[in-house]
Amino acid sequence: MPTPAVLFATVSLDRDGALPLHRQLFDALRQAILSGRLRPGTRLPSTRVMASDLGVARNTVMAAFEQLVAEGYLQARVGSGTTVTSIAPDMLLNVAAAPTDSSAVGPTELSLSARGRVLAGTVRGIPDPSRRAFQAGLPSFEAFPFGTWSRLLMRHSRKPSADMLGYSQNGGCEMLRGAISDYLGVARGVNCSPDQVIVVVGAQAGLDLVARMLLDSGDTAWIEEPGYPGARGALLGAGARLHPVPVDDDGLDVAAGERVAPRARLAYVTPSYQFPLGTTMSLERRLRLLEWAQRANAWVVEDDYDSEYRYRGRPLSALQGLDTGERVIYVGTFSKTMFPALRLAYLVVPRGLVHVFRRALRHTGQDAPLAIQAAAADFISEGHYASHLRRTRALYADRLQSFTSLLAEQLGHVLELGPAHAGMQLATYLPHSIDDREIARQAEKAGVNVAALSSFYLRECPQPGLLLGYAALPEGEMRSGVAVLRQLMPASEARRAAY
Ligand SMILES: Cc1ncc(COP(=O)(O)O)c(C=O)c1O
Repeated sequence: MPTPAVLFATVSLDRDGALPLHRQLFDALRQAILSGRLRPGTRLPSTRVMASDLGVARNTVMAAFEQLVAEGYLQARVGSGTTVTSIAPDMLLNVAAAPTDSSAVGPTELSLSARGRVLAGTVRGIPDPSRRAFQAGLPSFEAFPFGTWSRLLMRHSRKPSADMLGYSQNGGCEMLRGAISDYLGVARGVNCSPDQVIVVVGAQAGLDLVARMLLDSGDTAWIEEPGYPGARGALLGAGARLHPVPVDDDGLDVAAGERVAPRARLAYVTPSYQFPLGTTMSLERRLRLLEWAQRANAWVVEDDYDSEYRYRGRPLSALQGLDTGERVIYVGTFSKTMFPALRLAYLVVPRGLVHVFRRALRHTGQDAPLAIQAAAADFISEGHYASHLRRTRALYADRLQSFTSLLAEQLGHVLELGPAHAGMQLATYLPHSIDDREIARQAEKAGVNVAALSSFYLRECPQPGLLLGYAALPEGEMRSGVAVLRQLMPASEARRAAY
């Protein structure tokens, strides 16, 4: 197959340029994919043909292809060559779906930066919170003590002191930073002083700040495979090049990361309850990750988004507590333990980063409203947070039990459950013969939100499945949601035979 005209039009290589040829080719192909000129499913010529058509060494084309495969833009399958991925990073789906006819695109969109396009493209549709079955990570709103919360908010809004009405300083309200650092020390084994806590408007804002502060465009970052799309988006938005590192029952496979990208600048991990598979990172892996970070002078971002919810045994302490080399940036959020619209979360940064992060917060505008910070400080220090955690832990543990029984009874013939002892959502596995994205599409039409496990992979997904949130669901909604899923599944798939 000769190289298609679109590729020739796309690729112009500057042999005297500062960037190596493989990098120029990578950039050109990536741009063609993002802009929709190379559509999902397009089959690319072989590396040999392309190298000869472009007049470059085959190694150059291979290096560019390898990187595009690693970042999820291309798929290489034995026997069917290399194609533009159709189960691509989320951004591809949106960007590729945009009209390619420039007359249909407004000037503002046309003048977006590459970073802007990536950022806009990484976001998939935001689920409607009133459709609770089976949104991942949604807490129970009914369980939240809104009476107490509004009283505390009122306390800080009725006659606010001057310092509550100006700009937030020092990375957040002092009372809240103190309350968070006390809580983290006791509950999560995090080793920090209040100074190291930086309060932000959501973990997502924290990830964005971390990526912008610590990565230059083109820097490599390890991300978990499968992993959290929000983290990918923040890293890509800062211009990072992503290296998906596989996750197994012991969490991130650090040795694999060291093999493929030993000089990465940053690793993003969810060690307590891996998102989305729900595995816990073993102590050995934790130590190895910290050792690598120390050696490689890299940062480790620990996203501890829902570790409060563990229903068997004691929660494992945070990775941050093991870090003696000041390499870990810890991220925590109140979105799961209180509610997402609060937009309140925090980073715990190594001492050396405190000053620069505080300063940067001023110009990124990611600091949270002071009245909300003050009310949250009281909510924690007066004991309401601890009681709410106790109540919701018991509630979610019950719901998990009902949910697993219901799934076994109604869908046991097709669905296998992942780890079911923590968190607010459950990873479940389907036989290879079932297309999880198709199930997710059909479920959405029937009013039920499920996320296909394959959508969390940048590379090929080893086994299809569904991520199912249950914490927000009273039994009735759970039952009707499961009934919808049952209708979408083959009636008598013999699970064992099909795996
Ligand atoms: C793994 C993970 N990290 C971070 C977040 C985002 O938290 P926030 O709502 O504070 O931005 C979520 C939310 O779903 C999550 O699942």
